[in-house]
Amino acid sequence: MASIFRERVLSVHHWTDRQFSFTTTRDPSFRFLNGQFTMIGIEVDGKPLLRAYSMVSANYEEQLEFLSIKVPDGPLTSRLLHIKVGDTLLVNSKAVGTLILQNLLPGKTLYLLSTGTGLAPFMSVIKDPETYEMFEKVVLVHGCREVSELAYDHVITEDLPNNEFFGEQVKEKLIYYPTVTREAFRHQGRVTTLMDTGKLPADIGLPPLDIEHDRVMICGSPEMLRDTKDLLLKRGYREGHMESPGHFVIERAFVEK
Ligand code: A2P
Repeated sequence: MASIFRERVLSVHHWTDRQFSFTTTRDPSFRFLNGQFTMIGIEVDGKPLLRAYSMVSANYEEQLEFLSIKVPDGPLTSRLLHIKVGDTLLVNSKAVGTLILQNLLPGKTLYLLSTGTGLAPFMSVIKDPETYEMFEKVVLVHGCREVSELAYDHVITEDLPNNEFFGEQVKEKLIYYPTVTREAFRHQGRVTTLMDTGKLPADIGLPPLDIEHDRVMICGSPEMLRDTKDLLLKRGYREGHMESPGHFVIERAFVEK
């Protein structure tokens, strides 16, 4: 039976006026697979107000970490954005989700395609040594409006390649491709366009998307998921689920309307 842990907030980081992240304590009995999400939130008027959030932290880390958007009139995020160190965060003990390695068929290259806070589950996936055992190349694509929204770029480009246990594999296999749509940057354009036209694979020296070798995980807004899924279906890709691995898996990033 699922229960709700009461965790303590350990740090809060406001990346921009549209997104923030925070870390909390972790109950030692909380188990999850890298890439999964759970329901988290706070108490409002004595009742839990919870929404789905992917873990940014890997399942072997002592603390939990989450990345959130700020929706001005969103019931949870408009309150959550005020949390501070020492506050209580509610965390459901049951983690679920499809963005896990076991839902994918074997392949050579793993594309992790994200926009906005859809990056969160992939932070957990790229901290998992098993990811590098299963794939020859791991391509992390993060699409945002502006450069300041490219969260965790330092972790991706500095911390992970220097990880004492699997840093060498990260250096050899992880390719980070940040792209922005609303200002000048070294990579520009929507994730979907960059994949569909083949510009992205070409930029990193890989062949165009190919069903035989390339596997894909997708996390972003409903529109981004729809468009990305369409371009994969067009190429014959089949969606993977629990118990039935496929060429790609998909999950909606936290969206509060
Ligand atoms: P754009 O600036 O062209 O709207 P948001 O912060 O609104 O979630 O957007 C995050 C990123 O996702 C932005 O770069 C945005 O591009 C892009 N985006 C929005 N809709 C789609 C879509 N349907 N497919 C791919 N990328 C999208």
